[in-house]
Amino acid sequence: MNDRRRFLGLAVIAGSGFALAALPSRAETKRKSKTAPKAAPPPLAATVNPTEDLMREHGILLRMLLIYEEGVRRLEEGSTISADIFASTLRLNQRFSEGYHQKLEEDHVFSKMEVAGKLTELTRVLRGQHDAERKLTAQLLKNATPSGLGGSERRTALVDGLRSLNRMLRPHTAWEDTVLFPAFHQLLTEREFEKLGEVFEETEHQVLGPAGFQGILGEVVQLESGLGIDKLSSFTVHI
Ligand SMILES: [Fe+2]
Ligand SMILES: [Fe+2]
Repeated sequence: MNDRRRFLGLAVIAGSGFALAALPSRAETKRKSKTAPKAAPPPLAATVNPTEDLMREHGILLRMLLIYEEGVRRLEEGSTISADIFASTLRLNQRFSEGYHQKLEEDHVFSKMEVAGKLTELTRVLRGQHDAERKLTAQLLKNATPSGLGGSERRTALVDGLRSLNRMLRPHTAWEDTVLFPAFHQLLTEREFEKLGEVFEETEHQVLGPAGFQGILGEVVQLESGLGIDKLSSFTVHI
């Protein structure tokens, strides 16, 4: 359970204790229920916490990697596959990762760690990998075309590049989730953490548009369905 949820849980328990201590008599309750309007239910937490937000975004990135992986598998077995699947996924990755997710991490997470002098070698590597992701994605887009898939040299370059992207981004996101984000969370007070969640939420809608994360997820699902991998059950191993 994260600290924010624990805090909210404790707040609910504390609130209940207070309510029990001040419990009105049954007659009083009856009298009040005739006159007073029904109290509104307590509001739910408005925002997802910032590290949970970034981890959900990793889910989007990992689903894009699955699209590349499936595309590469089909190229290698000689099946027909549209170059547009690769190009659309790479462009979506540019919009989502380069234009949004990487910036959140660099501007709010890495910089905070660096100022605090914590895990600076890790953030140096992560920054370098963001840079490599940007360059590699731009290179791959040059070969993710019908003529690119048509020539064996360019097709091989596309396959090798997509493999390299997979090989780099899986550990990249895994280290962020398991090492960086827990350490980052420890540097913030509960209020700062909550405030950052609000900043992330605002940025999400400014950069990605009103549909935000859900809109991007919808686009990923569309691309997945073009390959028939939009159902989780398609990945189940039957033994
Ligand atoms: Fe990152
Ligand atoms: Fe990330």
